[in-house]
Amino acid sequence: MIPSWLAPNPRATRSMTFGREQQFVVNPNGIPELCEDLKQCPRHVPTPLLSLPALAGRLGVGEIRVKDESQRFGFGAFKALGGVIAVYNTLSGAVGDAYHSSVTFADLLTGDYDEITKRFVFSTASSGNHGRSVAAGAKLFGNRCVVFLPKFTSAEKEAAIRARGAEVVRIDGDYDTAVAECKRVSAEKGWTIISDTSWEGYDSAPRSVMRGYTVLAHEALVQWGEAPTHVFVQAGVGGLAAAVIGYLWAVLPTRPVFVVVEPASADCWFQSNLAGHAVPASGNADTAMGGLACREISPITWPVVGLATDWFMTIEEDEVMPARRLLAHPLDGDPAIASGPSGCAGMAGFCRVAADASAFAALKLDRRSRVLLINSEGNLGEAPA
Ligand SMILES: Cc1ncc(COP(=O)(O)O)c(C=O)c1O
Repeated sequence: MIPSWLAPNPRATRSMTFGREQQFVVNPNGIPELCEDLKQCPRHVPTPLLSLPALAGRLGVGEIRVKDESQRFGFGAFKALGGVIAVYNTLSGAVGDAYHSSVTFADLLTGDYDEITKRFVFSTASSGNHGRSVAAGAKLFGNRCVVFLPKFTSAEKEAAIRARGAEVVRIDGDYDTAVAECKRVSAEKGWTIISDTSWEGYDSAPRSVMRGYTVLAHEALVQWGEAPTHVFVQAGVGGLAAAVIGYLWAVLPTRPVFVVVEPASADCWFQSNLAGHAVPASGNADTAMGGLACREISPITWPVVGLATDWFMTIEEDEVMPARRLLAHPLDGDPAIASGPSGCAGMAGFCRVAADASAFAALKLDRRSRVLLINSEGNLGEAPA
């Protein structure tokens, strides 16, 4: 019997094709060029795709590869890709509108367009990582930035945001409350919100953010040289999942089996899948996995995550530390990987499935399977694993 923490997606048929509705969310065109553009960013190199053969043998699959985003930009999380690119897209769009010409990263960095770009004050709500990325983008291009943080975000993450020159507003509430406050204040002050989640009438920045994330999926395919058969990806609002699922679905001849993993208390995608439309999480999103502590999905991602995710699953809080330890202290010969609680959630999900024979069989995992996981953040000020 399939365990209650695992649910199939009745909408995800194998014959579905990646169409216009999906392309609006994640556009695979131009991603190799975007990767080239990124080379102009200080400290940018592709993150490694690490192979864990000993763990694959132990867990009964052919291969496990981990895209190690703990090394992104010297920043420690995949989120670096989203905020910086969304800030760039906003500024280059404004310059394009003003001068009817397109500008590159390098053009903007010259300061020649300051009279247009300096008017922008960027704001965002974040559980930490996205705020740091928007702050980094604003700093790179010389803009003021204000980040709204929920109560639970660690002092280390706040310090890292301030270190990138942004102002921080602490909210006495959770992530969704921080989003609401960011919207209210930004509307009042005329600030430009760079959010990683979407809402009615607001989707341009989240689409740019997801475009940034697709870089990691593209890199992983190039590095592997083979397509994964299974992908376990952790979700907060679903932006990372949309980018990874959307990109791989668009460019691969056969869609891998996609599994979206969430903390049990922040299961907005799990519940939305059961309902067939967006509904809030069943819990209060009180989780150690801060990046996944979201009570609501990003609605714009539905045509990708809601339609093409094959399975949704949840994990418990006490499954996080064992997964972090497994990555930090690997089996013989496998590389060690530093992960944070949200970073290892895909691994925790895979381990949960591997330990349950019926779940393992339901996902059609076997010794030929090639499993892709994403270590979405490193060990950022958390207790060591
Ligand atoms: C480390 C980490 N992993 C995964 C996620 C989930 O990303 P999304 O909210 O786009 O689903 C986040 C979001 O903040 C994060 O910080």
